[in-house]
Amino acid sequence: MTPTTDFSIRSILGGYDKNFMYIITCSRTGAQVILDASVELRHVSQFIRGRLTALLITHTHGDHIAYLDQYLEAFPNMMVIGHPDSNQINRGKSFKNVNQNQSLKIGEMTFLSIHTPGHYYDSICYQLDPILFTGDTLFVGRTGRVISAKSSLEDLYDSVYNKLLTLPENIRIYPGHDYGEKPTITLAENIKISHLLQAKNLKDFQQRMDEFESTRKPGS
Ligand SMILES: [Fe+2]
Repeated sequence: MTPTTDFSIRSILGGYDKNFMYIITCSRTGAQVILDASVELRHVSQFIRGRLTALLITHTHGDHIAYLDQYLEAFPNMMVIGHPDSNQINRGKSFKNVNQNQSLKIGEMTFLSIHTPGHYYDSICYQLDPILFTGDTLFVGRTGRVISAKSSLEDLYDSVYNKLLTLPENIRIYPGHDYGEKPTITLAENIKISHLLQAKNLKDFQQRMDEFESTRKPGS
């Protein structure tokens, strides 16, 4: 039987704060996608083979789009894809809006967009079954934080608990930063190790987040 997950993922660690940037390659067509522009092109270009089709943006916090101009200049035909509110970074190039539950076919790969506001209002997770690219919404060991101007704890709770943790538990997350004890993890295992993923309700989540913030060590 032909496998349905015929792609490869290369993770590149770098950027401003242990960022993960990803290159996803369709094994059948050679089409490539990069996820975020958080690592300088010179560290990534050796892995790009000439069929770079799209850049998927998880959200527009500065570290995730830090090197966008380098990529736009080097790959002028690359499509930039993200939430409609991320379009501010468009720079006049072709930008495709995605919101909740939209399918994106690139090569033979089908990405599903999931709008997950909370950490930031324009956050999008991209599901490429059985993988979920979570940006800063969900890390190994915890959720994202809600400390910027367009953050919302209520939205984060809804996004994480009602849109992500309801997905099949064997889905493996690939987050936007290397903050955990390992680079990737399944949803089931993440719930087991994460105090912030065990809340009973919004109020409980709020208390757990307050406790996390008051005891958090920088860089964790
Ligand atoms: Fe962020």
